[in-house]
Amino acid sequence: MGLRKGDVIGAYSISHDVKEEYNNMAVFGWTVLMSAAFIAMLACARIGAVHSVVFGGFAAHNLALRIDDAQPKLLICADAGMRAGKVLPYKPLVDAACDEARYAPPKVLIVHRGLDQELNLKPNRDVEYAPLRARHQGAEVPVAWLESNEPSYILYTSGTTGKPKGVQRDVGGHAVALALSMRTVFDVGPGQTMFSTSDVGWAVGHSYNVYGPLLVGATSLLYEGLPIHPDPGIWWQLCEQYQVRTMFSSPTAIRVLKKYATAWLKKYDLPAFRWLFLAGEPLDEPTSHWINDGLGKPVIDNYWQTETGWPVLALLPGMDLKPVKFGSPGLPNLGYKLRVINDASGIDAEPGEKGILTIVPPLPPGCLTTIWHDDSRFLSSYFEHFKDLLYNTLDWAVRDEEGYTFILGRTDDVINVAGHRLGTREIEEAAASHSGVAEAAAIGVQDALKGQVPVLFVTLKQSLDEASSRHETTQQIQQKVVEMLGAIARPARTYLVHSLPKTRSGKLLRRLLTALAENADPGDLSTLDDPAAVDEISKALARGPD
Ligand code: PRX
Repeated sequence: MGLRKGDVIGAYSISHDVKEEYNNMAVFGWTVLMSAAFIAMLACARIGAVHSVVFGGFAAHNLALRIDDAQPKLLICADAGMRAGKVLPYKPLVDAACDEARYAPPKVLIVHRGLDQELNLKPNRDVEYAPLRARHQGAEVPVAWLESNEPSYILYTSGTTGKPKGVQRDVGGHAVALALSMRTVFDVGPGQTMFSTSDVGWAVGHSYNVYGPLLVGATSLLYEGLPIHPDPGIWWQLCEQYQVRTMFSSPTAIRVLKKYATAWLKKYDLPAFRWLFLAGEPLDEPTSHWINDGLGKPVIDNYWQTETGWPVLALLPGMDLKPVKFGSPGLPNLGYKLRVINDASGIDAEPGEKGILTIVPPLPPGCLTTIWHDDSRFLSSYFEHFKDLLYNTLDWAVRDEEGYTFILGRTDDVINVAGHRLGTREIEEAAASHSGVAEAAAIGVQDALKGQVPVLFVTLKQSLDEASSRHETTQQIQQKVVEMLGAIARPARTYLVHSLPKTRSGKLLRRLLTALAENADPGDLSTLDDPAAVDEISKALARGPD
C-alpha cells in the first residue's frame, strides 16, 4: 500500500475469530478476538509507521475527531465485532466517521470476518484484507530502524476540553520501560505467561497485552469478551489452561465477578498463578479482600495513566516486594521522582496532607514525549501549574510517613467509568448537540459497580412540564450521547432543571453538583450566582431522574 516510516495508521476495532500461534505469542479468544489488531500494531512497528488504535466501543463522532487529529494514511477495521453473541457492525461506523472527518484516510483496509454481509465497499477507497494477504503472504518485509526518540504510537485520551489528547510515545524509552517493568513490577520473564484483560485500545492493552510481554520473550494471552460469558469461571479456566503466572485486570471487572459465587474462583487449579494486578481506578477494600480470599493469591494495586504508559506507583514483587498497604497503589516506581504539592501554597505537602501528585522532570523513559502535533498543549496541560517545573498528574494524593501514596481522585473534569476515562466536556458537548438542549452539565457520581457513572443536568430551550415528554426528552438526550461517544458514556441519570449552578463569572460549578448528588457537604456557596439553583437541584435529586 506504499506505506512508509512515519506514516500514521488508524486501527478501529479489528477482531478475528480463529486461534493462531505466532512465535511466542498465543492469541486466543472466546467471542471476539483482537489478534488482527495485535498483528496490525506489530506490523506498524516493523515498518516504522505510527499507529493509533481506537476502542471499538466508541461512536463514529469520536472516531472522526481522532481521524482529524491523527490524519492517517490508512484506516484498518473489521466488518463487525461480537459481544456476548451479538454482532456489532463496525463498517457503517467507520463510513460515518469518514464522512464527518475533514481528513478522511485515502484507504480503508477491511478485515472481513463474514459477520456483516452488507459490506458496501467504497470504490477506490476500501480494500479487503484476505486477497491482499493471499498475494503477499510469506513476503519478507525489512525492519525499519528508528531513532529511539521517534514516535511509535499515538493513543488518545480525555482531558479537560472536548478534544481528546493524542498521547505520543517514543520507541526506545518505551521499550526500556516496558521491559524493565515486566520483570520488576509484574514478575514475568521469558517463557512465562501474562494475561491482561484490557481492551487492546487502552493504555494497558498497548503496554501489557501487546508490547511488554513480547519484549521480554513472554507469552501474552488475549481474551476479548465478557468475564461472565460463557460462565463466570472463564478467566480462571484460561489461567489454568495456559498456566498464567501474572494477571492484570481492573477493580470494576472484579466487582462484576463478585455478583457470582466464590466457587467459580476455586474451580480451577492454578499452581502457576502468582499475582493478580489491578489498576485504572481506586481499588476498594471489600473487592480486594473478596478476590484475595477467593483466589488465595496476592492482589496488587498499581497506579498510572495513559500518559505515563507504565506504573507510577507500584510494589515490586519481581525485585523486593514491600508490604501491601490497603488503599495505596504503593511507592514511587523505579525512575519516578514524585512530589505531592499543596495546591494553595505550591509547596510540598506534609505526610498526611492532601495535595496534587506531580512527577519531577525529566519524565522517566516510556512516558509521553508530547501531545501529537501540539507541543504547546503538552506544556499547558501538564507543566504550567506550579512555580517549579513539574509534571501534573491531575490527581489528588496523600502520602504517609513511609512514602506509600494514596490516590484521592482527579483534580480536573475527567471522570472514571469502569476504568474508562471520560471528559465531562465531551459528554456535555454531545448532550448539547440535541436540538432541545440549552445547556448541559455532566458530573461523575460514585457507583458501587463502576466506580463512577456519568450523571447529567440539562436546561432546555423550551420548558416541558408533561412528565411523559420529560422522560422522552431525557431518553433522546441520552441516546444522543451514546450515538456520539459510545455506550460507555451513557448518562446513568438525567435531570431536567431550569438553571445550573454557576459562579458570578459564569463558571459551571460541577463540584457543587457532585456534592449534592453524593449527599456531601456542598462547601462554600458564596461564589454562587443564584442560590435558588441549589434548591432546585436538591429537589430534582430527591424527586429522581426525569
Ligand atoms: O485518576 C487516576 C486513575 O485513572 C487515571 C488514568 O486513567 P487512564 O489514562 O485510563 O490510565 C489507566 C492506566 C492504568 C489516573 O489519572 N487511576 C489509575 N490507576 C489508579 C487510579 N486511581 C486509583 N488507583 C489506581 N490504582
